[in-house]
Amino acid sequence: MTLEELRGGVERIRREWTESLPEACDLEALEQLRVQFLGRKGRVTALLGRMKELDLAQRAEAGRLLNKLKDEVTRELEERSLALEKAAVEERLTAEGYDLTLPGVWRPVGHLHPLTQVRLEIEDIFLRLGFDVATGPEVETDYYNFEALNIPADHPARDEWDSFYVGEGQLLRTHTSPVQIRVMKERRPPVRIICPGKCYRRDNPDATHAQVFHQVELLWVDEELTMANLKWIIGEFVGAFFGPDYEMRFAADYFPFTEPSAQVHIRPRGRAATGRHLGGWLEIMGAGMVDPLVLEEVGYDPERYTGFAFGLGVERMAMLRWGIDDIRLFLQNDPRFLYQF
Ligand code: DAH
Repeated sequence: MTLEELRGGVERIRREWTESLPEACDLEALEQLRVQFLGRKGRVTALLGRMKELDLAQRAEAGRLLNKLKDEVTRELEERSLALEKAAVEERLTAEGYDLTLPGVWRPVGHLHPLTQVRLEIEDIFLRLGFDVATGPEVETDYYNFEALNIPADHPARDEWDSFYVGEGQLLRTHTSPVQIRVMKERRPPVRIICPGKCYRRDNPDATHAQVFHQVELLWVDEELTMANLKWIIGEFVGAFFGPDYEMRFAADYFPFTEPSAQVHIRPRGRAATGRHLGGWLEIMGAGMVDPLVLEEVGYDPERYTGFAFGLGVERMAMLRWGIDDIRLFLQNDPRFLYQF
């Protein structure tokens, strides 16, 4: 075979391809055509196989011609295939009488409860800071809920945590702080955890009190931790959760399980202050340095280890974020409320 003969062969195949392509009226016919031209024993392939009959000097030119042919055939095959597929779909739709202009059936899609959204976001912030998530039982013993947290039976602070007792020495936990004790008894320092969960109090329900609510507890015990570390962590949290437009302050408070104890306030500053909170300080959590008596109770040496903790209300975070003024809305499961978040 000479180069001239090959050129003639290419032209012939090209012409026959162009003539046959419009005749392939469905995908099956198109596939047959593909096999006929590009298949293992197809015409293009056969010509490629004969290239070795040419002089070495002519093979480059022959290769160029054949590749061009192959590329063109491949591309036109794909175009035709797409066109045929589209036509087939349209034909079926017309035949089956679908009216694509009719409105569809609306199916409501659920989403996470606003409290779940807030809890996950808080967890995420602290996971990024290297904390683990720990959990504990909702039915607690008097020991974990009170005694081990330095709140003996006759302690006046028990009034703050009106409890649902469910049996001898057993109650629905009034806060997530007992998880601190459970985790410290199981692990050696350093301990770095957050504990999200449900809490129960025998309060009269009103706009700011619910008998079931959620807290997130934080605990970090290590050597050389001070109040400055606590303040830094809370600052990081406030920045991440509320954004840069909030400032924070600590005010003295009292909890039997921390010494010193503080309550943390935040306040929108600058432009944000013209919004719904109008510049007032809002309490967001209780916090403090873990009382040495608590460390001793779990078998940690208070001379060597210090720690800090805080407890925040998830409902409160959600209410501040979205300007919700009644905690009871979270429990009513009214879609008109839930679909807003
Ligand atoms: N457990 C407290 C409560 O429910 C909140 C709290 C205050 C938790 C100070 C702490 C803390 O860990 O250090 O009112």
